[in-house]
Amino acid sequence: MSPPGTVRIVDDIAAAFADVVIDSFAARLEAGFTLVLSGGPTARLCYERLADQGAALIDWRVVDVLMGDERCVDADDPDANQRLVRQALLDRVGDLATFHPMSCDAVDDYDRLLAWIPALDLVHLGLGPDGHTASLFPDSTGLDAPAGRMAVLNTDPSGGNPHRRMTVTLGAIRRARRVVFTVAGESKRAIWSQVSSDADVPATRVRAGEVLWLVDRAAAGV
Ligand code: 6PG
Repeated sequence: MSPPGTVRIVDDIAAAFADVVIDSFAARLEAGFTLVLSGGPTARLCYERLADQGAALIDWRVVDVLMGDERCVDADDPDANQRLVRQALLDRVGDLATFHPMSCDAVDDYDRLLAWIPALDLVHLGLGPDGHTASLFPDSTGLDAPAGRMAVLNTDPSGGNPHRRMTVTLGAIRRARRVVFTVAGESKRAIWSQVSSDADVPATRVRAGEVLWLVDRAAAGV
């Protein structure tokens, strides 16, 4: 058994992630490119590398950046995903087409925005030790969003992940042309072993045009 999608074991998660974004940008189907980003320490490493590696290869002026999830905190709070994305990537790459940070006060606006965008070229997702992805936690109400709903507020019923959250839904992710998961570090070995047996956790419910799992050797245990 394996999780839905393709698994690639890599030496350097950040470099592999940057390569995937650069390749996806080069192969884009339209003039613009829609990129949905995530939070967490792995994302920070990946975005810093993307800023460097993609400098000459991505025309950021045609890229629309959206968020896959956000913590309901101030925009400049150290826990805010938008702060991470600005620091690690946006502040380093110059002008973008657009950036759409999530605001927990405007979930319906984000829902409409996502529904209006014809296709998401690339969605970056992480894997939490409990199997969560974006802010879709095990047994959370966000997993049961009505069909057609693209963004919701959500909380972790176990209390393990702090803050109320805003997140894209599985239905929104399904509209992605490509999803790339990054799974890094020894702390992910146990959950990766479950995910790679296709255990039922939020991350293994993700479907999209293409799903690619980048897993580093520490997480994969090889
Ligand atoms: C967040 C996320 C979350 C993250 C995972 C994995 O806001 O924290 O978007 O889903 O991607 O927790 O994060 P790491 O790979 O950095 O551990």
